Amino acid sequence: MHTTKYSILPAIKSLFLSLDIVSATVSYDDKAFIINGQRKILISGSIHYPRSTPQMWPDLIQKAKDGGLDVIQTYVFWNGHEPSPGKYNFEGRFDLVKFIKLVQQAGLYVHLRIGPYVCAEWNLGGFPVWLKYVPGIEFRTDNKPFKVAMQGFVQKIVDIMKYEKLFEPQGGPIIMSQIENEYGPVEWEIGAPGKAYTAWAANMAVGLNTGVPWIMCKQEDVPASIIDSCNGFYCEGFRPKNPNKPKMWTEVWTGWYTQYGGPVPHRPVEDLAFSVARFVQNNGSFFNYYMYHGGTNFGRTAAGLFVATSYDYDAPLDEYGLPYEPKWGHLRDLHKAIKQCEPALVSSYPKVTWPGKNQEVHVFISKSGACAAFLANYDPTFSTKLMFQNHPYDLPPWSISILPDCKTEVYNTAKVNVQSSKVKMTPISGGLSWQSYNEETPSADNSDTLVRDGLLEQIYVTRDSSDYLWYMTDVNIASNEGFLKSGRWPLLTVMSAGHALHVFINGKLSGSVYGNLDNPKLTYSHNVNLRAGVNKISLLSVAVGLANVGLHYEKWNTGVLGPVSLNGLDEGTRDLAKQKWSYKVGLKGESLSLHTVTGSSSVEWIEGSQLAQKQPLTWYKTTFNAPQGNDPLALDMISMGKGEIWINGESIGRHWPGYIAKGNCGACNYAGIYKETKCQSDCGQPSQRWYHVPRSWLNPSGNLLVVLEEWGGDPTKISLVTRTA
Ligand SMILES: *[C@@H]1O[C@H](CO)[C@@H](O)[C@H](O)[C@H]1NC(C)=O
Repeated sequence: MHTTKYSILPAIKSLFLSLDIVSATVSYDDKAFIINGQRKILISGSIHYPRSTPQMWPDLIQKAKDGGLDVIQTYVFWNGHEPSPGKYNFEGRFDLVKFIKLVQQAGLYVHLRIGPYVCAEWNLGGFPVWLKYVPGIEFRTDNKPFKVAMQGFVQKIVDIMKYEKLFEPQGGPIIMSQIENEYGPVEWEIGAPGKAYTAWAANMAVGLNTGVPWIMCKQEDVPASIIDSCNGFYCEGFRPKNPNKPKMWTEVWTGWYTQYGGPVPHRPVEDLAFSVARFVQNNGSFFNYYMYHGGTNFGRTAAGLFVATSYDYDAPLDEYGLPYEPKWGHLRDLHKAIKQCEPALVSSYPKVTWPGKNQEVHVFISKSGACAAFLANYDPTFSTKLMFQNHPYDLPPWSISILPDCKTEVYNTAKVNVQSSKVKMTPISGGLSWQSYNEETPSADNSDTLVRDGLLEQIYVTRDSSDYLWYMTDVNIASNEGFLKSGRWPLLTVMSAGHALHVFINGKLSGSVYGNLDNPKLTYSHNVNLRAGVNKISLLSVAVGLANVGLHYEKWNTGVLGPVSLNGLDEGTRDLAKQKWSYKVGLKGESLSLHTVTGSSSVEWIEGSQLAQKQPLTWYKTTFNAPQGNDPLALDMISMGKGEIWINGESIGRHWPGYIAKGNCGACNYAGIYKETKCQSDCGQPSQRWYHVPRSWLNPSGNLLVVLEEWGGDPTKISLVTRTA
């Protein structure tokens, strides 16, 4: 997985610096980006390379191009590229250079958001977990160790891009980069060190001489060398700090992410198109859909508490790479209309008039005579007849019509001429034949444990090498304890900073608790059946992705930090938090690599009538042949609780269909201000039932499917399905 592909770069770097800026071919003014002397309206979409497979990339990029995009935007994911200090990974889904070259081959540009903070519902916001443990470090502030590490990574990425000649002045597709990400709110909160850090980051980035502009998004206090830009559901009112910069929208939110326990958010395309048209009619010249293809949080990359494995985002290309209609087609039509207006848009400012109530008209007339008009009806309830140059135009509520010649309406944001997709998940006939293996509950006696007085923070111990950490201790009960006679069992209370917890008493599951998306903290409080003598208490604490956003989120705790107490003994309450605890990182099945072919052959599996069902901490395996055809594949996990799934040794992510979506899934009208809770589906259903199985991970036959189930489920009802639209 680690490669030395780019390890020689620093030595030859100076070579490029001299070749660098042959000619500054990317520039800008207040109207727009200027590429090779031409002002452009740039239409962009986010596709995050690790959220799909390299085999999917060409098709996703082509569909983005067919959808009218000029630019593909992606973050760069530091923790994927440098899993341990100095050990780099640019292979497979992390082959950034390949991804960028594919975009180039398709004839599109790239906006490279190096960050390295990315937020992105990605583990620890993209920072490697080891970075947390660099002595004296504090993330995203004026802190020496952090700045050294950040500069090292940014420099590394820039060097690779230069070496591969990927910046536009070198003939490459990268026309802009981003440093930091949504730092404004943090700077506002921490003040002076935040300001100093922003100035440092800007200077550092500009000093790398890429020959293309740097952007900072959601950063009002931007240094003069950098372009500030807007992120949100609407950005028409945004103005760059410096009036000589183009007006950019780096994140047009096409939907929202799904969290386990929450419903699935949708953003109606009529409102999405309306927000984009509104931005463009107000001088906007660059906009980027976040996400254009959301994809999948494979492995343990999902974060920002309880974020689901699916990162579909209600994007124009669905998680599986299929056009999601009418969203994809209606936006394609919008882009055509905007491009027809481009000559007028890039060479004039709009003249704005208000012909009637809730009516607004923007007219762009260039010196060469090009004319484009945008007619708007802002009324969220009523349609209107708008008179423009003595012609009537019918406008539905909350909509904008586009007239690229100031006469003909070629597009209205609320008149959708594209059919909705009907998605089908079709089970493949022929059931799967399962085998099971029961994970044993370890106890404090095990030799391979770490022993400490008191409770340790989970990630400090695991370094996030696993979601799981066992906390184990012994509880001695005297033979004359009152409860042994009365049967009034003592109350065990365990408090955890998150995110899920299974409590085992003497090897038997006593209960499971988990946090929710508003509060990852949890409390287990139950009367427990203890016996005279030594009782084994084993707490399995489970992380579900590390926080990715918030002030110094890198310092947020995970795991059992106490109190832990036993109440109702003759002595009253016994505090267990300060006694001796033993720690074991990960599950036994993980250390045996049961998810791989070789690992899975190291234990005895059970099958037939003995197959474990509805039992906690069980591993399941089966093999299957690749279904015919090219339709995308998924696993229907409806009968399972919580855990992780692997195909041929690759993790397709955490499953948690046992977490049922709570929320409001009422009727949804596209008109009126949108927010992420407005149009939701799947209330009362699993937040995520289907899990994407990339075709390219399969062999024609004998594919190993392994499921780790924490809660207990019925694997015989798992099915492989094809997705068709
Ligand atoms: C467009 O930009 C010009 C020049 O900065 C400004 O005067 C005008 O108010 C802007 N128009 C809109 C609708 O934002």
